[in-house]
Amino acid sequence: MELIFATNNKNKVKEVQSLLPETLQLITLSEAGIDVEIPEPFETLEENAHTKIETILRLTYRTNGFSEDSGLFIPALQARPGVHSAHYAGPQRSDADNIQMVLSEMRNQADRSAYFQTTICLIWNGETHFFTGTCPGTIEMAPRGSGGFGYDPIFRPDGSSSTFGEMDLVEKNRYSHRKKAVHQLIEFLREAEKKS
Ligand code: IMP
Repeated sequence: MELIFATNNKNKVKEVQSLLPETLQLITLSEAGIDVEIPEPFETLEENAHTKIETILRLTYRTNGFSEDSGLFIPALQARPGVHSAHYAGPQRSDADNIQMVLSEMRNQADRSAYFQTTICLIWNGETHFFTGTCPGTIEMAPRGSGGFGYDPIFRPDGSSSTFGEMDLVEKNRYSHRKKAVHQLIEFLREAEKKS
């Protein structure tokens, strides 16, 4: 089975690819010959994920594919950076700048709880399906580790003493929001294959 994944984020492709069975072949945007900045204009992960995959299916004349939108949500910051996680500190989309911005806003906060959320939008034979995964954790006082991407060095998932930045992919996948959403996607596709 072939499925297009509407993202330009190589880290997301690597994480999702590591979770998929060999029978499911991921087509990346570069493999599909698409080089566009995909719009994320909305205030919810669902709407952004939906518009991303709709745009890409239209451009590639394909029927089936999925996208994901994700972010870090911090209750003490009224759920920021949230849907704006990728460009929180500005349009340069710098992970280091985003991390510094969050750490400075969190300096005097007693509640350091946070969660990552991933929402996958699958368009499958004309129908739209959403799969969501969350990962609760804590914002550390300073970055630790250089693995992963985005806010990984300052996020420690509940149940671990390491930040995502200190974990390899196998370990991150034990906790990851993205893994939880991808597993639901895989289950859906397994059932759909059985019915076809
Ligand atoms: P988008 O889904 O492309 O809008 O970008 C989501 C942004 O959220 C990324 O650029 C990261 O800054 C952040 N993010 C999403 N998932 C993760 C993760 O697993 N680890 C660290 N940061 C993440």
